[in-house]
Amino acid sequence: RAEADPLRPRFHFVSPAGWLNDPNGVSHWNGTYHLFYQYNPEGAFHHRIQWGHATSTDLVTWTDQPVALEPSAGPDADGCWSGVLVNDGGTPTLVYSGRFEGRELPCVAVGSDDLLSWTKDPGNPVIAAPPVGVETTAYRDHCVWREGTVWRQLVGSGIRHRGGTAFLYESADLRSWNYIGPLFIGDASQGDPADTDWTGTMWECVDLFRAGHGSLGSAPGDDSPDVLVFSAWDDGETRHPLYWTGRYSEDAFEPEGLHRLDYGGRFFYAPQSFLDESGRRVMFGWMQEGRSDAAMVEAGWSGVMSLPRVTTLAKDGTLEFAPVPEIEKLRRNHVSVTAQVLVGAGTPTDTGVSGKQLDLELDVQLAPGAELRLGVLSSQDGAEETAIVLSRTADVTLAGTLRLDRTRSSLDPGVDVEDKSGTLPMTDGRVRLRVLVDRSAVEIFANGKPLTARVYPTLGGERMTLAATEGSVRLLSFDAWTMAGVFEETRSLLPERK
Ligand code: FRU
Repeated sequence: RAEADPLRPRFHFVSPAGWLNDPNGVSHWNGTYHLFYQYNPEGAFHHRIQWGHATSTDLVTWTDQPVALEPSAGPDADGCWSGVLVNDGGTPTLVYSGRFEGRELPCVAVGSDDLLSWTKDPGNPVIAAPPVGVETTAYRDHCVWREGTVWRQLVGSGIRHRGGTAFLYESADLRSWNYIGPLFIGDASQGDPADTDWTGTMWECVDLFRAGHGSLGSAPGDDSPDVLVFSAWDDGETRHPLYWTGRYSEDAFEPEGLHRLDYGGRFFYAPQSFLDESGRRVMFGWMQEGRSDAAMVEAGWSGVMSLPRVTTLAKDGTLEFAPVPEIEKLRRNHVSVTAQVLVGAGTPTDTGVSGKQLDLELDVQLAPGAELRLGVLSSQDGAEETAIVLSRTADVTLAGTLRLDRTRSSLDPGVDVEDKSGTLPMTDGRVRLRVLVDRSAVEIFANGKPLTARVYPTLGGERMTLAATEGSVRLLSFDAWTMAGVFEETRSLLPERK
C-alpha cells in the first residue's frame, strides 16, 4: 500500500516502514552524516520505539542502516526514546531515554567505529530517578555537551504548578551524573494553551547551543546569544517548538527573548541540531501527520523528516533558517518567470510551472496593503489548493504576515486543514520566498522564517498559480524547478525480523 501512496514524499526522508517521529543523534562523523530517528517498523503507530538509522554523505540521498537501538529487558524494555550522540574521546556514545513501567530514565550505549552496532551500558539507567523534592510533569530527552573537562547534560522536564524546565547535570564520564539544578523554569501561567507561543507544562527535546560561531561555555567576548530550543508540551493539545535567546553561563540560563521556531507548530516538532564538520548548524524536525490514527495505519506509514536546514543568526538576534544548499542538486526543468507587476484581483498568472515535487524561489516586493497568493497542489478546477499567502498591512505598522491557507488543501473531511501563520519581518515590503513541495510535505521559508506543514490533496492536482489578491506586488524574480525523487516508491517496506 505505502509504495503506491501518492502522499508519500519522495525527497524528504521517510522511514522504510511504519512509524517515524523525532530525529535523534543527528551528527556528522568522519565525513558521514547520521540520522537516527524514533521508529516503529511494525506499523504506523507509536509503540515500543526503536532507533531507526540512515546515513548520508550529502544530506540528500540516504542509506538505510540496521536498527541502532531496540528495547531489551531492563530500563528500556518499553522503548528507546529520544536522545543524542556525542564523541567520547573517539567513542561514539548515545545518551537516550529508556522507557520502562511508564517512565523514562537516561541510558547510555557505545557504538562501533562505523556507528552501526551499539552496546548498552550495563549500568543503565545512568540516572536513577528525577531530582528528589520536585514534582515533575515528565522527565525525558537529552542535550549533552563537553564543557572544559566535564560533560554537561540537560534533561527535559516540567515542574508541576510552575512550568516547563530542563534539569542540568554534570559528569566526568557520561555514566555518573551530579545534579546541579533547573537551568531555567518557564512560567506556564503566562498565556494559555491556545497561544502559539505558550511554553507548556513540559519541555520535550531541549537543545542548547550558541548561535553564530563559538560553542557553549566558550570564553566571554563571544557575544552571540545562546539559544535554548524546546518543544512545548502539555497533556492537552499543546505541541510546538519554541526557543529562548539569552545567555548561558555557569549553571543558569538568563532568557532574553522567546520566539516561535516554526510557524507550522506541531508540524516541525522535536527538532534537534548539530554542528557539521564544515561548521554549519544543521537542524532536523519531525513533520508529524495531520490525519487520523486509522488513516496512518491504513497508509502503512507515518511521519516525515524535514529537510535538513541551516540555522544562522539574523541581524535582529533571532534565528534564520534555509534548507541546506545540497538539496539543489535535485532540481530539474528550470522555469524562470519574467519580472512583472501583479495587480490586486487580477487573474492568476500562468507560470508554466506544475508538479507535486517542486522547489520555488521568489523575490517580491509588496506595496502597503498588498497580498500575494501562491497556490500549489491545486486541481484543475481549483476545488483543491494549498496557498502560501504573503501580506503587508496598509496601516502605519506595515506589518508582514506569512500564512499557509490549508482550508481548501484537501477534500478529505478527516484531515487537519487549519491555517498556519506568523509574523513576516520585511524591509520596504521585500520578501525572499522559498517553497519546497513534496506531495504531502510543504516547507516554506519567507525572509528566513519557516512555516512547515503537511497537506493531503485527494485530486492529485499539480497546478501552480500566482496572483496578487490585494494591492500591487512586484515580482522581481521567480525561479522554479521540479525536484527529482530520492526515495523509490518501492523502498523495502518489510521490517527486519530477528
Ligand atoms: C517528542 C517525544 C519525546 C520522546 C519521544 C518518544 O515527540 O515525545 O519527548 O522522547 O517523542 O517517541
